[in-house]
Amino acid sequence: MIKSVSGTQDILAENSFKWRAIENRIHDLMRLYNYKEVRTPIFEYTELFTRSIGEQTDIVSKEMYTFEDSGDRSLTLRPENTASVARMTIENNILRANPQTKFYYIGPMFRRERPQKGRYRQFHQFGIEAIGPKSAELDVETIMIAIRFFESFALKNITLKINSIGSKDTRDRYKEALKDFVRPQLDLYCEDCNKRFATNPLRILDCKKDAEKNKNAPHIIDFLEDSAKIYFDRIKELLIYNEINFEIDHSLVRGLDYYTDIVYEISSSDLGSQSALCGGGRYDYLFEEIGGQHTAAVGFACGLERLLLILEEIKYNFLQNSIDLFIASFDDDSRKYVSKLADKFRLNNVSVETDFLKKKVGKQLEYANKIEAKYVLVIGETEIKTGKANLKRMSDGFLQEIDLISAILPIL
Ligand code: HAM
Repeated sequence: MIKSVSGTQDILAENSFKWRAIENRIHDLMRLYNYKEVRTPIFEYTELFTRSIGEQTDIVSKEMYTFEDSGDRSLTLRPENTASVARMTIENNILRANPQTKFYYIGPMFRRERPQKGRYRQFHQFGIEAIGPKSAELDVETIMIAIRFFESFALKNITLKINSIGSKDTRDRYKEALKDFVRPQLDLYCEDCNKRFATNPLRILDCKKDAEKNKNAPHIIDFLEDSAKIYFDRIKELLIYNEINFEIDHSLVRGLDYYTDIVYEISSSDLGSQSALCGGGRYDYLFEEIGGQHTAAVGFACGLERLLLILEEIKYNFLQNSIDLFIASFDDDSRKYVSKLADKFRLNNVSVETDFLKKKVGKQLEYANKIEAKYVLVIGETEIKTGKANLKRMSDGFLQEIDLISAILPIL
């Protein structure tokens, strides 16, 4: 038997309505903030990701699904979507007419990580990218969107952590200071951190194993240039003004190289070790890394499987996937009549299910219960003759005679 690939999941029929509920929430929220949906291809030329995310990051160095097509071009299944949205914006010259551009997306991403709860090889992100202005108000808008999104599901136990990683120059100076701090005790650090020391020292800061040793590490915010410090202060001021709780996390550096200035993560203590629900920040140099002009931009992405894990845990009440009406029938005559009647109801926007297994009426009604039909009609000889039938409300058994000719479900 051929099974699904490790780290991928089927979204089964009994769960797809939850996805739709989340997606609908996203579309509604995005309208309020004037973000427009975009859909980019799920594969791109590999260089797009190596140049933006960074050669030394975990994503590029070991997690990408990369392959050559028959034209010998190296292609990669997108591990994230920020680089693709930037490519799309440049390629379609979008900023010329829209210097303040706001996009969002929902879709699958691919990373060859070790699968575990909350960590998959194909997972889905909802992300936003606000492109054009460098504005602390815009940075805070993106953070507020993420917070409002989680609040709309009544999530508790979420924490917003922010940090500023300044400019490339700041990071270069900081990397040296961090290496000076780590060097004397490097042999006490884990194997991964020993590698990171040479290739990507900032990542030493988010090693869980070495967190204790990093406690006294220098803070990157002490290396910020004055303008970056002022910018970060403004963001903090705006967050406080908007009553958004946050913590400053000096070890927050994010796993992608394109960030500058503000970086942030929202995590939930209701998730296990994969607690990051959402991550983002400003990335003002990404556009030029991939061949565009210097362009300011900020955004985030949330992992929807992780959100769903929490919603299931807190028994979130998704709108039921139930059907409005079940129509039971007795024999071939009534089945024929019902095929037309069901269609008339559907034209009146009523969702209808019927029986195709030729079960006894009693069994059909059991099935109606199982699929949580709100109303039931039983159609036999009399109902066909009179054009009238008793509509039963399943929640309390209330009966009301309705007219089958108009096929309208009364509001009961
Ligand atoms: P990221 O932190 O790599 O950022 O991913 C964002 C979110 O995607 C994570 O917080 C997590 O919820 C989810 N996620 C990541 N990897 C997995 C996985 N293997 N399984 C399940 N969920 C996962 C980005 O992707 C950036 N593009 C965000 C961004 C947008 N920055 C600026 N704009």
